[in-house]
Amino acid sequence: MTSVRPYSALAGVYDAVMAHVDYEGWADYLLHIMEELCDTLPAPAHVLELGAGTGLLTEALLDQSDWHLTVTDGSADMLSAARVRLAALGERTAFEHIDFSQPWKAAGAPFDAQLLLYDGFNYLMHPDQVGALFEGVGTAGKPGSLFLFDQSTPHNSINNADFFEDEGNDGTLRYHRKSLFDATTGIHTTTFEIEGPEGRFTETHRQRAWTLGQVEELLARHRFEILDAFDGFSLDPAHDGSERIHWLVRIPHG
Ligand SMILES: C[S@@+](CC[C@H](N)C(=O)[O-])C[C@H]1O[C@@H](n2cnc3c(N)ncnc32)[C@H](O)[C@@H]1O
Repeated sequence: MTSVRPYSALAGVYDAVMAHVDYEGWADYLLHIMEELCDTLPAPAHVLELGAGTGLLTEALLDQSDWHLTVTDGSADMLSAARVRLAALGERTAFEHIDFSQPWKAAGAPFDAQLLLYDGFNYLMHPDQVGALFEGVGTAGKPGSLFLFDQSTPHNSINNADFFEDEGNDGTLRYHRKSLFDATTGIHTTTFEIEGPEGRFTETHRQRAWTLGQVEELLARHRFEILDAFDGFSLDPAHDGSERIHWLVRIPHG
């Protein structure tokens, strides 16, 4: 079995791994938060999506809005898959390789809004890396613009341990996934084994299950104004027991 970087071999079977996710419903929720609860977006809005993966959420967002999206990811393989998926959308999309865990700038800035969804934030292991994300977002957005991101918390890892092992296939590639959560360190480790015509590969993904309080403190340190922190996929306030939190924040005015 060959050990490879996260989201390299997995890119080929990612859509099958995520087959259970209601991306249309998620996009509807995000658009409701940004367009109906906030009145700051021009039409069409130019939006930067970080950690966009294979573009599953991107496609749903583009279906339901008139947005133009700059689609970025730190994995070249995931970004290639997104390019293929979104090829027909022409000038409504642009693509860029961005690793947000270290200093970064995006072509096409300044953007009207920015997004980072489905656990991309949890791949940041240290406050310094969160700092690199927030500095980059602060530079890439128009002063006072919105940044919407989500995170998984330790409660998600603890409450859903029954779902920590699964397997599946997309007809060509097979995957097996197993997770372990260390409640002492807050580190969630997932091992994927992927098998297909090109061989057998393993990827180890390490994520930090940040708490609500830790993220709140980091946002304050970087002078982001917290507009809302939502519990899960609701419009209720996040709380100490939330498993997933959607943060709607305003970047500093300058
Ligand atoms: C669970 S996937 C979510 C992808 C997509 N947002 C979705 O909803 O399907 C997490 C994504 O974050 C990306 N990612 C993780 N760390 C990153 C980093 N430091 N910079 C850029 N992308 C990163 C991964 O490559 C992966 O595509």
